[in-house]
Amino acid sequence: MLEPIKVVVTGAAGQIAYSLLYQIGKGDVFGQDQPIIMHLLDIPMMMGVLEGVVMEMMDCALPLVRGIVPTADPAVGFADVEAAFLVGAMPRKEGMERKDLLSANVKIFKVQGQALDKHAKKTVKVLVVGNPANTNALICSKYAPSIPKENFTAMTRLDQNRAQAQIAARLSVGIESVRNVLIWGNHSSTQYPDARHALVKKGAEEVKVSDALPDTAWLQDQFITTVQKRGAAVIAARKMSSAMSAAKAAGDHMRDWWLGTSDGSFVSMGVISDGSYNAPADVVFSFPVSIKNKQWTIVQGLPIDDFSRGKIEQTGQELVEERQEALSVCED
Ligand code: NAI
Repeated sequence: MLEPIKVVVTGAAGQIAYSLLYQIGKGDVFGQDQPIIMHLLDIPMMMGVLEGVVMEMMDCALPLVRGIVPTADPAVGFADVEAAFLVGAMPRKEGMERKDLLSANVKIFKVQGQALDKHAKKTVKVLVVGNPANTNALICSKYAPSIPKENFTAMTRLDQNRAQAQIAARLSVGIESVRNVLIWGNHSSTQYPDARHALVKKGAEEVKVSDALPDTAWLQDQFITTVQKRGAAVIAARKMSSAMSAAKAAGDHMRDWWLGTSDGSFVSMGVISDGSYNAPADVVFSFPVSIKNKQWTIVQGLPIDDFSRGKIEQTGQELVEERQEALSVCED
């Protein structure tokens, strides 16, 4: 058995955390041999609710959970953590665009960046879920200069999972038969879900999704808009934003970062851009990455056609604008 690691979840009294904490505690994310001390951070007003969450965590009787630390103090919540799920933020309500959230939420991530810088391990792996996730991750990193920029990532895995599920359903195959579906850019309605590099198992062999699914009009149009608007569709139906699926995606993202991806497979992660694929540099942009030894690398050399180039440019432009707005909010 390994030594326990400290893992923080912010927004721990909220709805995403309610599903996420159980996944982490039962070993789905860091492995079945990795004990965990769970730090649960929320705001002072939510401490009563958090008490109930702690009771339930105890009552789950999870052998890997070696301690639970509920707190409203970032200095305690971030102390010596090796992994951070930054979920806590104001969620998007029906009719609200992500941009409306930016000024409210970006300030939270400035403060949390400063706290991570002071209190977390320098190797901490940070996953930002709270929206606008990409720009929040950028701001968080900016205010944590002693931690490498590569350690700050934003979640587009929910979009990837949604895209993969749409394709599997369209092809009437199991979800595990489809891989390398991609999300480029921002976790917003400008994201570019891309199945051009995706593969599907057909019997003993693997073929390109575009060959198995000759309906290019669907791939180019309905598939993309369904994935782009899925978050809004869930809000319209549930009157609350995606939570169970967001928690599952957060677990998937961190598990792949921690344990690695298999050869030839890649996943989508919002990471600091080096300008690959003509995306703007120095924004947190969702790229295809492969992961070894807890280090991600942007997968290079995927062929990009004019259609994809246009979409990558559009979502990149939005991220440049968000960066501008976020920086001006933070400097106020
Ligand atoms: P929720 O409202 O149920 O929970 C949010 C929790 O965060 C609340 O308990 C709140 O008190 C707490 N919180 C607020 N400010 C905080 C702070 N400064 N420090 C610590 N905790 C704080 O919201 P839910 O549904 O859990 O969603 C959380 C975030 O995740 C939202 O921003 C939502 O938009 C985002 N989200 C992102 C997705 C993605 O794919 N990247 C998908 C779905 C949701």
